[in-house]
Parts: sequence; C-alpha cells; structure tokens
Amino acid sequence: MSYQIILAPLQGYTDAVFRDVYFRHFTGVDEAMSPFISTMSQNKINISSLKDVVPENNLHCPKLIPQILGNVAEDFLFLTRRLVELGYSTVNLNMGCPHSKVAKKKRGSGMLPYPEMVDQLLDNVFKGLTSELVQCKISIKTRLGRYEKDEIFNLLPIFERYPLEEIIVHPRTGVEMYGGNADVNAFIRVADNTSHNLVYNGDITSVKVFENIAGNLEGIRRYGQSTSTASSKPIKRFMIGRGILSNPFLPSEIKEALGYNGKMQGFYSFEDRIGKSSDKLGENRMNKDKDSDKLEKIRLFHNELFATYSRKFYGPLHVTGRMKGFWTYIGPSFPVNRKEIKKILKVKNREHYAEAAEKFFAAMPIFEPDNDNLDTYSRL
Ligand SMILES: Cc1cc2nc3c(=O)[nH]c(=O)nc-3n(C[C@H](O)[C@H](O)[C@H](O)COP(=O)(O)O)c2cc1C
Repeated sequence: MSYQIILAPLQGYTDAVFRDVYFRHFTGVDEAMSPFISTMSQNKINISSLKDVVPENNLHCPKLIPQILGNVAEDFLFLTRRLVELGYSTVNLNMGCPHSKVAKKKRGSGMLPYPEMVDQLLDNVFKGLTSELVQCKISIKTRLGRYEKDEIFNLLPIFERYPLEEIIVHPRTGVEMYGGNADVNAFIRVADNTSHNLVYNGDITSVKVFENIAGNLEGIRRYGQSTSTASSKPIKRFMIGRGILSNPFLPSEIKEALGYNGKMQGFYSFEDRIGKSSDKLGENRMNKDKDSDKLEKIRLFHNELFATYSRKFYGPLHVTGRMKGFWTYIGPSFPVNRKEIKKILKVKNREHYAEAAEKFFAAMPIFEPDNDNLDTYSRL
C-alpha cells in the first residue's frame, strides 16, 4: 500500500465549501474527514451541520468520512443511520476534541479517562449496527488522553474487542490543546499495543517532517505480530490539518517526494534530493518560476473561496469571518507581508475585503511557508 494523506477536520475551517474549492485547485490528498457533527438527543438532527456532508456539497472531495461527536449510543446510531442513507459507509467517532466545554460533558477527549463508559458506548453502537443490519464501519479519532499520555493504554484493550475500521491518533493530551509537540514516540507505543490499523496525525508541516515521522514509523513492529509478518499492518495513512491550511501544496509535495510508486525514497529531504541533482543557478531560476506559479494558484484558490462563501453566506461578517480563518493559517506563510495581511483582516465589508485582497496579490507577496514551526500561526 502506498502512502495516503487525509485532510484533517478543522471545525470552522475545512467545511464543505473549503473542501470543494480546495480539491478543485490542489492534488495529493486522498480523502477528507468532516469537522464533527454533534449528536442531539430525542432523535433530532442539526440540519445545518448535516448540510456539510450532503454529497452534492462535496462533489470534488475524493472520499469523505463524516465525523460524529457524542457519547450516547442511541443518538450516535440515529445520526449514523441518517449518514448511511446519504450514502456513507464509514463514520468516525470523535474522541479527541480538547475544548473544555465539550470535554466537561464527557465528549471528545473528555471520554478518555472513562474506559468503562467507552466500552459501553462501543458495545451498544456495534450491537445496534448489527441488530439493525446497518452497513457502516466505525473509525475513531483520538488523543493520548485527557490529562495524561497513558490514559489511552487503558482504552487499547477495549478497542481490541471491536471491529474498528481504523484509529487515528493525534499524540497529545486534551489539556495540551495544541501546545508542545506531537509525541511520535508515544504514537509508536500505541502502535505496539494495538492490532488495529492506525493513522498518524499531528504537526506534519513540511516534506521534511513527513519524511522524518514516516521514516520513524516504517521500521516499527506491530502488536502481536511476529517479525516475519510485522509489516502486514504498516502505518501508511497520515492525516494532516494545519500544515495543509498553511501550505496547500504540501500533500502534492509529499507525494512528489515519495515518487511515482508512492514509496519512501530515502530519509533525506526532498530539497536535499533536488539540490543533489541540479546546479545552484538553474535551481534558483526554477524556484522563482515555481514561486510565481504557486502565488497564482493561491490567488485563484483564494478568489474562488471568497466567491463561493459570498454566494453561500448572506451576512458580510460571515463571509469576511470565514476568509479571516483562511488567513489565520496561510497568512504566516507570507512572512514578509504581515502588514498587508493585517490590513485585509481589518476590513468590515465584502467590497473592501475584495479590494484589499486584490491589492495584496497584485503586489506579488512572497509565499514562504516556515512550516517546520507551527507556532507561526500565532504570529499574525
Ligand atoms: C481550529 C481547529 C478545529 C478542529 N476541529 C476538529 C474537529 O472538528 N474534529 C476533530 O476530530 N479534530 C479537530 N481538530 C483537530 C485536527 O483535526 C487535528 O487533529 C489537529 O489539528 C492536529 O493535526 P495537525 O497538526 O496536522 O493540524 C481541530 C483543530 C483545530 C486547530
């Protein structure tokens, strides 16, 4: 199996509009997960969040996995049935949301300190699916724990009892939110203790980081498997969120670095490899051409995103709000042009926004993602 890249769910950012426009402009991502849809009690459904996953709003998305946030099996099953009716055959259970408002209700990462509750939930969900003959696979997206990194080790034996499609692990605790670094060694310990398919997620911000992490994960032995079969469940699926928002070319750059067969070529960076085979002058010229090409691609992507949000949302603040979200992540990738971006962020209506953005791109800003450092997101 060659490497696969999944666009992570980012509530408020990677909605259906973003996904659809993104997939029309960029390549390299194999599938996407929707931001969570919360369960509601009493057989109710939040129609506006369901719209995000309606197939006609996701025509360009290669494959979409809807995600559910909830901890009551009956409500989870009710929403799952609706998603199956829409044509989905896998749904994801969110066990990672770090926000205290969510976690306090024992949802998202708030479920992680309660293995018995998780066991009961999964038991009821799988029994419900079987008894109602609902054809739907369940995957889980989780963190290492709510408070401590080892909470997940109480959950892994429980996960072993259920036919989960896969487990996506973001190796941080809930209380860490996005601080510090994703703990790749902790992810490896998780891999040692589960036979489920695993997806790695966290802090992949450049080809170099991807190659380091994927390289580290290549050689690891998997739970319960003899050395001879250890590679039967290698970790080949990677979920990327903020790295894609700050550099939309990242997935295609990773795929390019992997080569035509999708296999790892070696553990040095793509840049190193290019450098090895080209003279400096030619390389600089090539990079310059590539830069203006990239800027034009980002401009077209931005303009279509703005036009689509403008059609879908009525309130001017809604539209500019969404576009400000766009700049939160991609903005720091224009480090020389921070002042101009701040100007775009100050505007209050659509017309002024369009003018400010046009001016920004016309001035040929320099796209230079400093993707080895996620702290850049707070620089704006
Ligand atoms: C603003 C924001 C919103 C997010 N919304 C969701 C969500 O709806 N569901 C979910 O499972 N994870 C959500 N996440 C977590 C991401 O999917 C991902 O696990 C996390 O950002 C780590 O991956 P990254 O380092 O590649 O960004 C969100 C993260 C951020 C920053």
